[in-house]
Amino acid sequence: MTTPVPYWIAGTARRGTESIPVTHPYDGSSVARVAIASEADVAEAVAAARTAGEPFARTSAAERSEALNHVAGRIAERSEEIAGLITAENGKPLRWARAEAGRAASVFRWAAEEARRFGGEWQRLDTDPQSPGGAAFVGRFPRGPVLGITPFNFPLNLVAHKVAPALAVGAPIIVKPAPGAPLSALLLGELLAETGLPSGAWSVVPVQNDRMPALVADPSLPVVSFTGSGPVGRSIREAVPHKHVTLELGGNAAAVVCPDWSTPEDLDRAAERIAVFANYQAGQSCIAVQRVFADRSVGEELTERVVRRVAALGTGDPREEQTEVGPLIDENAARRVEAWVEEAVGAGARVRTGGRRNGAEYAPTVLTGVPPTARIACEEVFGPVVTIDEVEGSDEAFDRVNDSRFGLQTGVFTHRSDTAFAALTRLHVGGVVIGDVPSVRAEHVPYGGVKESGVGREGVSAAMADLTEPRVLAFPGVAL
Ligand code: SIN
Repeated sequence: MTTPVPYWIAGTARRGTESIPVTHPYDGSSVARVAIASEADVAEAVAAARTAGEPFARTSAAERSEALNHVAGRIAERSEEIAGLITAENGKPLRWARAEAGRAASVFRWAAEEARRFGGEWQRLDTDPQSPGGAAFVGRFPRGPVLGITPFNFPLNLVAHKVAPALAVGAPIIVKPAPGAPLSALLLGELLAETGLPSGAWSVVPVQNDRMPALVADPSLPVVSFTGSGPVGRSIREAVPHKHVTLELGGNAAAVVCPDWSTPEDLDRAAERIAVFANYQAGQSCIAVQRVFADRSVGEELTERVVRRVAALGTGDPREEQTEVGPLIDENAARRVEAWVEEAVGAGARVRTGGRRNGAEYAPTVLTGVPPTARIACEEVFGPVVTIDEVEGSDEAFDRVNDSRFGLQTGVFTHRSDTAFAALTRLHVGGVVIGDVPSVRAEHVPYGGVKESGVGREGVSAAMADLTEPRVLAFPGVAL
């Protein structure tokens, strides 16, 4: 039997006594065995994080920045190997796995830079006639050790988005990767172990989900940062209402195609971006395009183009260079997507392309005429399916986007700045992308949702603010 991949307790590799297999989502082949952190080891990680809290917060920005830069550089150096690992554990095509490795390097690089800039600010105290005068320094201090819980769909980059900002502000972090896709998170442990970070500053603990309630409730971890499904996120918030909980949950992201986006080149571009980003990672991204609202004046031409491009997407083995869409994480996920499409078709929807399942693969699918109450329209599909609806003008489109329990990001294809600003003010989402799909995300920009899409923001600086709290040092009456 192969030696299990070790987990990391307070910066040290351990193998424990239990292990679980990691299998390839495409063909079920064995990829690795991963050691599962024992209860005693997890308790040690928590104790180490608690002990490390104060001294780690006092380490110099230079020290933290150097460590983060080291990790960024090493991810870049080992990016091909890391991409192979991401593809093996998660099934995403190599091209997207490479993109993910590049993004993770960027997260650490940004965190290294922001660690140097992160300080506090001065505020005047002489602002009103009755004010005391003088000034106050508002510093930011870690809220305490962080528990980061991450999903399978970006097994490295969403770990990076938890680990790098925590280390940048001097907050110890224990990260619990998705049980089915923990390999790249564990490799990140190797890279962190090469740095001079204090041992208690970080741990990577693969444990089964049923052990998480106890860890979430542990009073030594006052901050919980979770990315994953809505029901689990909400159960965390309910279980620990006294903790600082950040939730990045689901979405059913929309793209709006406005009447001014109407030349053949415009429509080609929108169709290309919609086709690719409805299906990248087999739709398993919270900001994959799930719903398209196209103005009636361009709807038919756009739909034809999207259907053509989706039908031409290269599917199959994610290890092959030409593959654009691989399997879902497992067959159950593909079966759920299949059931939702069948339900929509039963309610009158038309399959324009796709609509077939083969094991864990689901063919990239375009649906029209989907009733708004069908699950494929109003829940998060997390699969390679896009619905297209025609609407009368951008006001109706924005109403349709807002008619959702979720609100993460929206793409608006328009050339008009007034429509762009109308989208910003009218759409109930965390971000609006103009002239592109909702799937655009830059690592340093605030990212997160409203309504059932989450609470709080990630993105390196936003996460650093979120993991810290202000503390005021006032100098009333001093002359400025
Ligand atoms: C997510 O699926 O929540 C993350 C999307 C991304 O980082 O691109």
